Amino acid sequence: MKSHSDKVSRKRGNRFPIYTLRLPTVRVYIIHATELIPAVQRQWRTVSFTPIMANAGRAVLGVSQTGTDILRKDLTSDSNPVVGLLPILSRVMAPGPSLDCMVRRAAEIMTTSMDRLKRGDGAPVTIKLYEWTRHEILMATTEAVFGPKNPYQEPAVESAWRTLEPSYLSLALSPLKPLTSPRALQAREFLASSFISYLENNGPATASAFIREAHAHNVSHGFTTDDLARFEIGHSHAVIGSTAPTAWWLLWHVYSDPVVLGEVRAELEELAADSLDPLGEKTRSLDLSLLTSHASILQSALKETLRVHTISPAVRFCLEDHLLEGKYLLRKGALVIVPQPLHHSSTFAWGEKGHNHVAFRAFGGGHTLCPGRHFSAAEIVAFVAMMVLRFDVAPKKAGKWVAPTCEKTPMVASLQIPDEDVEVEVRARENGRGQWQFVSPGAGKE
Ligand code: HEM
Repeated sequence: MKSHSDKVSRKRGNRFPIYTLRLPTVRVYIIHATELIPAVQRQWRTVSFTPIMANAGRAVLGVSQTGTDILRKDLTSDSNPVVGLLPILSRVMAPGPSLDCMVRRAAEIMTTSMDRLKRGDGAPVTIKLYEWTRHEILMATTEAVFGPKNPYQEPAVESAWRTLEPSYLSLALSPLKPLTSPRALQAREFLASSFISYLENNGPATASAFIREAHAHNVSHGFTTDDLARFEIGHSHAVIGSTAPTAWWLLWHVYSDPVVLGEVRAELEELAADSLDPLGEKTRSLDLSLLTSHASILQSALKETLRVHTISPAVRFCLEDHLLEGKYLLRKGALVIVPQPLHHSSTFAWGEKGHNHVAFRAFGGGHTLCPGRHFSAAEIVAFVAMMVLRFDVAPKKAGKWVAPTCEKTPMVASLQIPDEDVEVEVRARENGRGQWQFVSPGAGKE
């Protein structure tokens, strides 16, 4: 399931700790040695993610020239809006009441979507597993993030997002966007107008702490409503882009391997509690907060899924010359790339001596370590736990799970995307016919 470029980069990189690709317009340094990653991360102000984000604002999201000037001001300073935002997000998305609140909302949505898979007569329901997962996770995630005025409640907004998402890179690179990407541009403008309505309707006031604080921070930097709406499209990319494919791969790995399925189920059954409701009906309940500390097999499966399927390149821009580790000259104006597949498959880092935490790049690292990692891990593990406890899932075609190819994965994707969907039959388990109750973190304290 590795792409051609993965294989080439691993072959070439094997000989050097870092190597240079001289492209016609830019010099690119590929960080091959895992030991060099902390050195790159320490230089986060000058080997920086900020100019990449500032440029994406203009090229991909259509931020105004005035807004772009604000984004590009003082690129190395905490007064820059991009630099200043990440610590705020890391604080509000850390374990605590606001995170619990997001997980709780996501769990409510997921419970309702799974209820729709259960038929009273016990007959199976047929779904396309990727399509279904992508939609349900998008709804759960955006409801949790954007709150009750979530624009994604409108199917046309989800559909515009699906048109825009795979075209992120072509929008970023093309100087002739109306000619090369007319549909993506139209979708982006539709999303921008939906988010303008969201902002004018005071959407952030009832949203997660993530959106509330990010919005307040950006307002304090003087951006217009039109630019603020475009940042919400950027937030959509950060929050939806990876969660749905991760949830799908985790479902795929758990259900396609009877040993893993058996072990995960046994671990979860152990955590479930039985009770009788006032009418004497049996109810089974699972406290979702236990999944973080007591579901080590499922947690390991998530981590391994991320290790094997994430493909993000983590691109940085050199704002100044820098001599990395006193040895390797990084020239101003060059790009630095820390490719996940390279580090996630390094035998040096993942060999027999046990794994190296620096080599796990699925959530990035250093200053730009993903602030959404606690939320997405809690949401995805809850989603898979609910499915595994309530349903059996089997492919319709020949009853066999066949590993999908991923050759058509868009270049900007953070995870491999299956080329073909898999049609499956979902059947409520014998013991799933009783009531399941999933208790969310922090429930009762709201
Ligand atoms: C499985 C799910 C996710 C994965 C694998 C993931 C991965 C990443 C990675 C690798 C980065 C660093 C990018 C870089 O340094 O180049 C990042 C940044 C970030 N992530 Fe996540 N993420 C996930 C889910 C989320 C969620 C659910 C949220 C918010 C609710 C979120 C919010 C962010 C933000 C705000 C950043 C900072 C930069 C940006 O806007 O892209 N992420 N994420």
